[in-house]
Amino acid sequence: MESLAGRAYLVTGGGSGIGAATALHLARLGASVTVLGRRKEPLESVAAEVERQGGHALAFPADVRDPDAVGAGVAAGLDRFGRIDGLVNNAAGNFVTPAESLSPNGWRAVVDIVLNGTWNCTSAVARAMIEAGTPGAVVSVIATYAWTGHPGTVHSAAAKAGVVSMTRTLAVEWARHGIRLNCVAPGPTETDGAGGALWATPEDRARVLASVPMGRFAVPPEIGDLTGFLLSDRASYITGEVLTADGGQWLGKQIYGPPLGEAITTTNGGGAPAAGARH
Ligand code: HXC
Repeated sequence: MESLAGRAYLVTGGGSGIGAATALHLARLGASVTVLGRRKEPLESVAAEVERQGGHALAFPADVRDPDAVGAGVAAGLDRFGRIDGLVNNAAGNFVTPAESLSPNGWRAVVDIVLNGTWNCTSAVARAMIEAGTPGAVVSVIATYAWTGHPGTVHSAAAKAGVVSMTRTLAVEWARHGIRLNCVAPGPTETDGAGGALWATPEDRARVLASVPMGRFAVPPEIGDLTGFLLSDRASYITGEVLTADGGQWLGKQIYGPPLGEAITTTNGGGAPAAGARH
């Protein structure tokens, strides 16, 4: 049961949703966790819950877009737990918009969080592990639209595709350091962040649900479990891989999904369609 006993991990976006569930799961598997994210209060409440359950956690407020702040978070975790064994890149930013309405700053915000933020964290943690001469593992949370694409999410889809390519490149480059890197690709998961950004209205929610052959959303612990497996020695020969847990959504979408361009809704104005959006 304690497949991560004595280890220490950094979990980004660890204050809520999949990140919080993952931090709690890793702690139950015996690991110490540094939860990093922008808002202090949710991080502190996750850290308190980990401690309440008998684990060890550190809350570190930081934005993954800021390499110096990320470096300080890695150093704080090392200082507190004496080691670093890997990372969960879970922090994400997203909103649905027709591509032609996306501003340069909107593109930059999402790509900065998802792609540059993942690099900032991955490079900082890997450098610490390489310097210490210890092996480790990285798991990045992506989405199946990294390879299918999806109308309305061009910024996020492009950034997540970059994360897959980064993962595969580094899996080969850092194998000699004993560092494994993999991705998990959850389908629609019941969280406030994803729900608020991607299926804010009852109609959107029903449409997303109808796209999942298994007929339900994932729950965050299902994704945390997959990440715990990939970080553990049970996955010791798996690197550069993407594990999908989407209830069959992306395969089903190939046959039954709406034609490209017909599925755009937007979170602009509390879920009202932006000018030019089609339904
Ligand atoms: C259109 C929007 C917008 C929206 C923000 N922008 N929200 N444009 N529709 N709903 C534009 C802004 O107008 C601005 O451009 C630019 O984006 C930056 O916005 P800021 O609010 O200044 O940026 P910031 O505070 O950094 O916020 C980043 C964010 C935000 C990504 C925009 O939503 C965020 O931080 N979200 C984090 C939580 C989240 O999104 N979680 C969901 C992840 S789910 P202008 O030009 O006006 O300056 C996920 C799962 C996908 O990724 C897979 C599902 C299967």
